[in-house]
Order: sequence, then structure tokens, then C-alpha cells
Amino acid sequence: MDKLHINQLVGSIQFELLPKLRIKSVNPHDPIQVSYIPNPWNLVGAGNYAAVFYHPNYPNLVVKIYAPGRPGFEEEVEVYQRLGSHPAFSDCFYAKDGFLVLRRLYGTTLYDCMNLGIPIPRKVIQDIDKALDYARDRGLFPHDIHGRNVMMHEGRGLVVDISDFLDEEECSKWENLKKAYYLLYRPLISPLRLKVPYGVLDVVRKSYRAAGKFKTRCEKLLTMFKREQKQNRGVR
Ligand SMILES: Nc1ncnc2c1ncn2[C@@H]1O[C@H](COP(=O)(O)OP(=O)(O)O)[C@@H](O)[C@H]1O
Ligand SMILES: [Mg+2]
Repeated sequence: MDKLHINQLVGSIQFELLPKLRIKSVNPHDPIQVSYIPNPWNLVGAGNYAAVFYHPNYPNLVVKIYAPGRPGFEEEVEVYQRLGSHPAFSDCFYAKDGFLVLRRLYGTTLYDCMNLGIPIPRKVIQDIDKALDYARDRGLFPHDIHGRNVMMHEGRGLVVDISDFLDEEECSKWENLKKAYYLLYRPLISPLRLKVPYGVLDVVRKSYRAAGKFKTRCEKLLTMFKREQKQNRGVR
């Protein structure tokens, strides 16, 4: 990518976008709120920690800006360094003070595909699986791979958010999404061309989080119970 081109964009981010942009994160479990975007910038998408914008003069680049107070910027920069170049991931061309200039990935998130009733072929899931294996080979830990963080473009799968790939903790989101794809989506939703309303997708997302917390609590209780049983046996 042309350095001058990037530097011009960085200038525009620093002097035109950032001073006027209004974004905030109210709840770390919900997408951040964008209340003002200066002209001619456009919103590409909002995650729970950051929002992504593009400038019409630089259509193949985006800038990801972390909301004030939300962590993860340094980790994301490091992940891009370790990741190198791969067609299913973006590239980072510049990073400073809470923003990253990234290659724009065109496509529709699988979350939006579900809502719009756009068919998701199996190849998309296989591409994402391969991309995640590639990341593991580079010493990373694919994490937080849910419907808003993966996209489809011309029948191929892309991974749009790698910000949590340093997190070594087990994360089953992608495995669960795949289960839902093979057990629910392919036999039922896709043949009937069902469009899943955002309200329903959000309920699934929130109940999944609640179920995750419930599972963690049950596991903790079970561990405590086992420990106590062991101690009791030791006393006897
Ligand atoms: N490189 C990119 N190209 C195009 N769109 C992107 C890119 N990165 C992110 N997006 C869009 O912005 C949204 C939010 O970005 P994301 O990295 O997921 O933020 P967060 O880390 O807060 O979850 C994504 O769901 C996607 O729609
Ligand atoms: Mg995200």
C-alpha cells in the first residue's frame, strides 16, 4: 500500500475525523453508540469496543477507532503484527493513539446474512475454519468469533475482528455457531429462506451469554463440591 496515500488518510483522521467524531460505549456487551460523524466520513460497522469508518476518497481502507475507555488497542496491533498477510484477514497499515488503518474487507457479516435471508454456503464456514487454523499456526488463539465478526464475500469466508486473539482462555463461540449452522441453519432456516429478525438474533446472543455465565457458575459450584467431598473423605 502506498505510504503517501496512507499518510494523507492519517492526516484526515487526525485533523478532520477525530476532533468532531462522537462515539461512546455505554455497555461493554452492546455495540458502541455513534452520535456524530463529520462529513464525508461513513460508518462501516460498530462493535462492542470500537467503530469502523471509511472516507470516500479511500474506499479500500477503513479506520477502526476504539471508544474512550475501552481496552484492546495495543493487543489488536500486536495480533496484526503476528498474523502477517492472509486473504481471509485484513491488514493493518498504521496504528496510533487508539485507531488502526486497515484494509477494507467487503462483504456482509453472517449476522446480517441471517437477518437478510442471504444464503450462507458451506464453503464460507470452511474458509473461516482454515483461517482460524492459520492464526493458531502463528501462535494466536482465535477468540470471540461470532456472527458479527465473520463475513461472507462472493461465497468466501472472512474474519473481520481479531482483536481478542491473544486471549488464551477457551472460547466456544465459533464451535457453537458452527453447530447452529449444521443443525439449524442448513436443514431448516436456509431451505425455508427464513429471515431471522435482529430482535431474535439479539435474544440468542444475550441468552447465550447468560447460559455461559450459568455454565461457569455451575462449574465453579461443582469444583467446590468436589473439593469439599475430598476434604471430608480426608477427615474421615
Ligand atoms: N477491515 C474491515 N473492513 C470492513 N469492515 C470492517 C473491518 N473491520 C471491522 N469492520 C466492521 O466493523 C464492525 C466492528 O468492528 P470490530 O472489529 O468487530 O469491532 P469490535 O472490536 O469493537 O468488536 C464489524 O462487525 C464489521 O462490520
Ligand atoms: Mg467485533
